[in-house]
Amino acid sequence: MARNWTPESWRGLPILQVPEYPDQAKLDAAEETLRAQPPLVFAGEARKLKDNLARVTEGKAFLLQGGDCAESFAEFSANNIRDTFKVLLQMAVVLTFAASCPVVKVGRMAGQFAKPRSEPTEKQGDEELPSYRGDIVNNIEFLPESREPDPGRMVQAYNQASATLNLLRAFAQGGFADLHQVHRWTLDFVGDSPQGEEYEELATRIGEALEFMEACGITAEAVPQVRETEFYTSHEALLLWYEEALTREDSLTGEWYDCSAHMLWIGDRTRQPDGAHVEFLRGVNNPIGVKCGPTSDPDELLRLLDILNPSNEAGRMTLISRMGHGNVEKHLPGLIRAIEREGRKVVWSCDPMHGNTVKSASGYKTRPFDQILGEVRSVFEVHQAEGTYAGGVHFEMTGQDVTECIGGAQAISDDSLSQRYHTHCDPRLNASQALELAFLVSDSLKGLRAGWSDKLAAAS
Ligand code: PEP
Ligand code: CO
Repeated sequence: MARNWTPESWRGLPILQVPEYPDQAKLDAAEETLRAQPPLVFAGEARKLKDNLARVTEGKAFLLQGGDCAESFAEFSANNIRDTFKVLLQMAVVLTFAASCPVVKVGRMAGQFAKPRSEPTEKQGDEELPSYRGDIVNNIEFLPESREPDPGRMVQAYNQASATLNLLRAFAQGGFADLHQVHRWTLDFVGDSPQGEEYEELATRIGEALEFMEACGITAEAVPQVRETEFYTSHEALLLWYEEALTREDSLTGEWYDCSAHMLWIGDRTRQPDGAHVEFLRGVNNPIGVKCGPTSDPDELLRLLDILNPSNEAGRMTLISRMGHGNVEKHLPGLIRAIEREGRKVVWSCDPMHGNTVKSASGYKTRPFDQILGEVRSVFEVHQAEGTYAGGVHFEMTGQDVTECIGGAQAISDDSLSQRYHTHCDPRLNASQALELAFLVSDSLKGLRAGWSDKLAAAS
């Protein structure tokens, strides 16, 4: 690539899905404020996540990425953060048990604010206003002044991300995530459900295993992995003014890192090889995700990897397929074969959410639980048939008891969607559905891992 990269070299390139700020001086001021703020994450942490993801590439670990579709200013509270974190911990425990391998935990948290939209404007009756693009850009209220992009929101988003991350770090390392606490991660409203009970059984087995290990001298004091966990953050790197302002040169290595999150991904709508988003992300050394939808083309994907990961570094790239439950067999094998043919090192993850959004009869944007599960199963089957490793899952979920996705053991129906439909953007799995899905996915994962372990053993 002839062009020199700098944190601002994306400017002037074709760019999609970002707002037009009406007031340049206000934008400049917000960027200046952000540039003066401390980084949210450190280069060394991003490198550690990359090492973990490199192990996923080799089939020796599994990636769990999940959290909100869109974090919001209104839903910001310590309880919400704690509850989402609890559910992610529970899902990770379920998957770790099934896969018998480490689960790399990455939240869609502490920065997941900016949203790509299918339409630039929204119409209600005769009135047409700019679309809501996430709280970091504008306000969801359908009023002209609310929908105007306000750069000052980037500073508020940074502050919220900073407080969120502070709490997540405390939860991950301050005793809350200690494996002895597995029983206490269950949220009240999940406790009596079938998946709550299944989890309780699992937690009891883990408790017994810990007692056994302690008897052998493997204690929480001696082994930090028992008393604390590694938890990483991620979001879509969509609003490039924000990302650029938090990009810093690592004093140890001289490399650039986007210090707004450990991992950043490029959305399905902004992955043009000549576009601004790809240009920005090629120069930062964080682990990078690329969403691959039904329009992903194998040659274009290889070109993207040439740009984003020219040295074919393991752990740098995670390809997140999001085809829709009926489209996996049609679109995924071509992508996998191109990657295999060229020997590219990638993590294959599956986002079963974004290809399965439908409008319900009552007019809600929803996702049927069965289709979400169906896509994960199809992805596992395709990888098994291709001899490749399905290395992760990517969910939109929350610790709250919302009614946004149809189905699951709770049998949420179209009629009940209106009861607690709180999302600012896409429908999320609630805590019960997320845990249920983790159990169902873990059943498939067990089979997959068994085959994979044989393969690893034969290769060593
Ligand atoms: C998202 O992950 O929130 C998203 C918008 O996904 P995609 O780019 O895959 O549509
Ligand atoms: Co979404």
